[in-house]
Amino acid sequence: MSEEAALKKQAEETPENEKLTLNRREFLNLAWLASMGFLVFEIAGVSIAFGYPRFKEGEFGGIIPIGSTDALPAPGSPPENRPKVKLWITNTEEGLIALYKVCPHLGCLFGWNDQEFKFICPCHGSQFEHNGDWIKGPAPRNLDRFVVRVVDSRTGEVLAETPDDGGPVELPDNPNAVVEVDTGAKISGAIHD
Ligand code: FES
Repeated sequence: MSEEAALKKQAEETPENEKLTLNRREFLNLAWLASMGFLVFEIAGVSIAFGYPRFKEGEFGGIIPIGSTDALPAPGSPPENRPKVKLWITNTEEGLIALYKVCPHLGCLFGWNDQEFKFICPCHGSQFEHNGDWIKGPAPRNLDRFVVRVVDSRTGEVLAETPDDGGPVELPDNPNAVVEVDTGAKISGAIHD
């Protein structure tokens, strides 16, 4: 008997339930391979996504260019509102601070009151100094702030940066100094007594 005829005979003699079992096993193997392939594809996709910055420059969550130090509000003058990137840029006598404009009580957007020279939250009345320190109201802490960097626009060298405690950044005397705020690096305001 030829090999082909032998195979055909074997196939004819195989009970139907065995053929079904084999087909099911093949199907399960294929399904397992497909799911593994999908998993590998997903992991590769996630790795690529993490390899790219999540925010473009200028978008909230990324680096916000503020401009040259000459264009900043004078020390001790009212803060500058940057509504699109949720910032108040406040230049105190001690240095520059970038305040996150979301109230640390329940998340309302607080505003600046020029007459009283302080920040006031319209929701429950929390008040904060020009530098973000809590004055009164239900907010449990000072205003949150972001890391400010002063960079030499020619060399890219970082000339000054917000310290870990979120304190003001002293502006260097450098005609090429430009300011940027890293809205991906938020520092929580200190909790008051
Ligand atoms: S949300 Fe600002 S005081 Fe309550």
